Amino acid sequence: MAQAVYNFPRGFLWGSATSSHQVEGGNTNNWTAWEEVPGHIIDRSKSGVACDWWGGRWREDLDRAAEGGQNAHRLSVEWSRIQPAPDRWSEVALDRYLEIFRGLKERGLQPMVTLHHFTNPLWLEERGGWENPVAIQAFEKFTQKVVETFKDYVTTWCTINEPNVYAVEGYVEGVFPPGKHDIQTALRVLANLVRGHSAAYHIIHNLQPEAQVGTAINYRSILPAAGWSPLDRMVANMQSSIYNRVFSGALVDGVMRTPLGNTRLPEARGTQDFIGLNYYTRDYISFDLRYASALFGHRYFRKDAELSKTKYIANEPEGFYEAIRWANSFNLPIIITENGVEDSDDAMRPSYLAQHIHQVWRAINFNFPITGYYHWSLMDNFEWERGWTQRFGLWEVDPETQARRKRPSAAFYGEICQENGLSADMVARYAPKVFARLFPN
Ligand code: NOJ
Repeated sequence: MAQAVYNFPRGFLWGSATSSHQVEGGNTNNWTAWEEVPGHIIDRSKSGVACDWWGGRWREDLDRAAEGGQNAHRLSVEWSRIQPAPDRWSEVALDRYLEIFRGLKERGLQPMVTLHHFTNPLWLEERGGWENPVAIQAFEKFTQKVVETFKDYVTTWCTINEPNVYAVEGYVEGVFPPGKHDIQTALRVLANLVRGHSAAYHIIHNLQPEAQVGTAINYRSILPAAGWSPLDRMVANMQSSIYNRVFSGALVDGVMRTPLGNTRLPEARGTQDFIGLNYYTRDYISFDLRYASALFGHRYFRKDAELSKTKYIANEPEGFYEAIRWANSFNLPIIITENGVEDSDDAMRPSYLAQHIHQVWRAINFNFPITGYYHWSLMDNFEWERGWTQRFGLWEVDPETQARRKRPSAAFYGEICQENGLSADMVARYAPKVFARLFPN
């Protein structure tokens, strides 16, 4: 048996990621309102008690993370709980989060905190959410309160999770609230998110000069179906730069570049201390006149790609390497803020995990400054418009009984975290299908 180990640098952060609405339960926000309307959530489920973290189950789940060798956790704080009305802060909610942060510390889990993970308080949503510039000042005020309260426990902040997904799903695809289909509005929302992020960046640094502040960008690899075709290449470049680059580009030089024109946002220039990267999958695209509404791009997975349980994710580890190379072009430290696969049977996850962690190792060995990896997710949770149909957890959760069951991937990831490396022996035991690919003779 080969004895090789892909070792990671000392101090590497191994964690998992969750978000407030998906795990806490008992929220009242724009998503709980959205879930009430038939047709919005494909299995008609509601977030409900979710994973019952607000009821106290965060303790047992964080025990699982710590016992599994993790030394970090990414979570979000729920705006609607902390600020139930524009002129009111909930001391109960703030205290509860303080308890959770103490709990993280006791378990040796370094926190990374997301301020906005898709959900808005209803009082903001009723005023138009991020379409309305009032959201910017409101977010700034919320950020100030959160950082003042938690700064003894948290120094790594992620302002906004997947602003590109928020804008596309809510304002182009219409599957997230508010369910619109309007590119102009999507771009206005994106510009306001850039402004909100920039305001938060400056507030955080005023209150906590040592803070590390960034976002989490969902990078989707989009390759031309036929590399020789100039039209396929054109649509691939265009869609990739719109999807992956519009938001993060603005944080570099203060200009948001879109096909419909440029917006100058000088306050955004230089407002990231790290690049937070969420990567799941890769698409292929061909130019096709029948897809006018998709800017003439027909997107699909590679024909022979291995697909996840509900065919939502293709296992494309090379796309992850491409994403990391893209992140590296910003010349900032890189944190893998999410990576994972929906797989209730845990049939594909062990190979996906091995292959993707191998790509992280490969990138580190090209000197790309990656400081941590957060697996999405610690346990199954409420997967937005797909409800409970997609299971991303290392641990299985039965939302009815709240019972947890350990998937083999949890044990596998635990060994990786404890070893601070991926060994041939582990891959042989947990992901034999990809052994020869990862450890060729
Ligand atoms: C990205 C999002 O940040 C998270 O909320 C979601 O559950 C995962 N992707 C999986 O779709």
